[in-house]
Amino acid sequence: MSSDSQGQRSASSAGASDTLMRCVVKFAAVMCIMAPAAHGQTTTAGAERTTLTGVYTRDQANAGRDVYAGRCQSCHTAASHTGPVFANSWAGRTLSDLFAFVSERMPKDAPGSLTPEECTQVIALILRLNGMPAGDDDLPADTAALRHIRIAVRTP
Ligand code: HEC
Repeated sequence: MSSDSQGQRSASSAGASDTLMRCVVKFAAVMCIMAPAAHGQTTTAGAERTTLTGVYTRDQANAGRDVYAGRCQSCHTAASHTGPVFANSWAGRTLSDLFAFVSERMPKDAPGSLTPEECTQVIALILRLNGMPAGDDDLPADTAALRHIRIAVRTP
């Protein structure tokens, strides 16, 4: 039969289908994140907020500046976390995703070394760098709560 040529064909298209698969996975992940919002939240505790509603305090972002200078600046500049770079990676996701990323994967040379408080401070700074307003309440180091805050980027 033509099992030989079929084998070759699937081998040569592996790259493309790999990329496609990754897109599908990404899309599925986005849909999973969006699904709870689509069903609507009825309780106040579960109410959806966005990063444009004042979800961190000025003190937190100020503290984040020190964390950032000591732990992040050796590899990053503000440009790594603002504008299209930030929007492309994070807009529409929730703060629990960003929190998980920073707490588990950063700093790249010592992942997992930030305390949860340092993590929220540095995230507060990143939000401020993106022009998102400060508010009256600290950003909590609580992934369940952070899951209800969607990352919304100001459109210029
Ligand atoms: C040793 C170098 C290094 C240090 C220190 C470091 N990072 Fe990173 N960071 C990277 C690299 C490299 C990437 C690209 C993604 C990857 O390789 O995981 C990255 C990616 C990121 C991203 C995702 C970028 C995007 O697409 O939005 C964020 C957010 C981030 N870092 C935050 C931090 C924070 C906050 C700190 C300090 C606590 C920090 N990083 C410290 C190297 C570093």
